Amino acid sequence: MKFFIDTANLDQIREAQDLGILDGVTTNPSLMAKEGITGEENVIAHYKAICDIVDANVSAEVIATDYEGIVKEGEALAKLNPKIVVKVPMVKDGIKAIKYFSSKGIRTNCTLIFTAGQALLAAKAGASYVSPFLGRLDDIATDGYQLIEDIRTIFDNYEYPTEILAASVRGPMHVINCAKLGADVMTAPLSAILALLKHPLTDSGLAQFLADHAKAAGK
Ligand code: E4P
Repeated sequence: MKFFIDTANLDQIREAQDLGILDGVTTNPSLMAKEGITGEENVIAHYKAICDIVDANVSAEVIATDYEGIVKEGEALAKLNPKIVVKVPMVKDGIKAIKYFSSKGIRTNCTLIFTAGQALLAAKAGASYVSPFLGRLDDIATDGYQLIEDIRTIFDNYEYPTEILAASVRGPMHVINCAKLGADVMTAPLSAILALLKHPLTDSGLAQFLADHAKAAGK
């Protein structure tokens, strides 16, 4: 499974990149705002800074929701760096724009996917990725895992090349369960990725090994 980090925080992106397991970065307008990045020039500069840090693809989200606006913004974002994947919302004009981008060889990530039907439409339009939002479905007591399983079945039935990018992943169990279900990619905050490292028996086992080594060495 590919690991993407879901943040616009440059320090966290650097930390994940240094770990050597990073396959991509996803951002969204809320994550950019959280870092205080506003105004077109600053947003563009920030995407360039992210691309300079990572050896991976970077999802950059359009703000427009009409066809002409999405195409204009998406083409400008794609020109910034070959690492950019244009993130397009699941709306009618978004689907049309994904079809257009696909014909031009511009990669896309269709975001805000909450049903298998939405994922199917995006795949038919030629999206490179679909992003089902697991955590937000959890928040409303709905089974996000079932959604990922359904999309997996549909994409496998018809051999769609579109990758399932499990998004809104909030913790380590989300990551593990998405991997079990065959999501191609997951995107999560750094905290969820680092939580995969942890087990108390690993910590106590290591402490014991080091103590035994020190004792044997007469320290
Ligand atoms: C996906 O690309 C989104 O940026 C993100 O995963 C949303 O996560 P949230 O529901 O935790 O905001």
